[in-house]
Amino acid sequence: MSLDGKIKSVKNDFLADFDDFQTQNTDIENIRQKYLGRNGLVAVLFKSLGSASKKDRPKYGQLLNQLKNDITSKIELFSSDLDNKDNSDIIDIALPGKTYPIGSVHILEQTLNEIKKIFNDIGFSIAYGPEVDDDYHNFGALNFPEHHPARDMQDTFFINKDIVLRTHTSNVQIHLMEENDPPLRFIVPGRVYRNEAISYKSYCLFHQVEGLYVDKNVSFGQLKGCLEYFVKRMFGENCKMRWRPSYFPFTEPSAEVDIWDEQRSQWMEILGCGMVDPEVFNNVGYDPKIWHGYAFGMGVERIAMLKHDIEDIRLFYNGDIRFLRQFR
Ligand code: PHE
Repeated sequence: MSLDGKIKSVKNDFLADFDDFQTQNTDIENIRQKYLGRNGLVAVLFKSLGSASKKDRPKYGQLLNQLKNDITSKIELFSSDLDNKDNSDIIDIALPGKTYPIGSVHILEQTLNEIKKIFNDIGFSIAYGPEVDDDYHNFGALNFPEHHPARDMQDTFFINKDIVLRTHTSNVQIHLMEENDPPLRFIVPGRVYRNEAISYKSYCLFHQVEGLYVDKNVSFGQLKGCLEYFVKRMFGENCKMRWRPSYFPFTEPSAEVDIWDEQRSQWMEILGCGMVDPEVFNNVGYDPKIWHGYAFGMGVERIAMLKHDIEDIRLFYNGDIRFLRQFR
């Protein structure tokens, strides 16, 4: 048989043996020995190269090398030696798995949920109102006369002369009373905006929860009891709080509540409150001789800062994942 023919027949034998291996699971090591062993069929063919004519030798040499490479790569694929394997289709169970990061509820949202739960438990419903509102609802109806210095207390972002980004959630007091007959008892969570000097405790936007309770015979004592109940549930029985007289155009008398900030050893204001001013009732068409009410507005960021020892209000807004992860 010519060398040419011998090469072809070894190749066909190998393919048949390889087929058996794949279909009948015969031993791949036997096949390796048979073809690639020191005295294997490929080695025998290489030896017989010497008997080929000088002219044909390069051609047969090439064919033989090709055959050897083909056989080697096929066998290697199934060899028990993992390092020599193309293991792209093999699952390596020792590799670390893919991680899918899990998000969490933002600490502000968690705090809001806690506040809502406490007031829900004592009979308040939840309402919402516009963040962009007219001057009348944010100021006028709340008894801020035009050019009154009280407007300076709340550095306002103006959209135009008549439209503002609300500076507090108190605008929703007016909407609620315009739309509902008394009695009513609501809390109003929401964002507010102020063009203030930014510091560790003040930012250009923040969240408030407004409270409004209107009924017959509402007293300042009830307001006090309600807010003390809230503070105890939020900060614990032993939390230090104090009441300070204050002024708001839409409440009379008015007060503010401070909580002792252990971290800084100083008081931190968390809310303003008071009895609804009769003038506000007049503006929404409630008869102040029949109806009384109390209102309050609390800062959600400051409550979260006190409760969780957060040192700077800006941390709520810069989206640093290391900060957010602490509150999972
Ligand atoms: N709106 C007031 C503020 O933002 C807080 C407040 C609400 C005071 C309701 C009294 C009654 O400072």
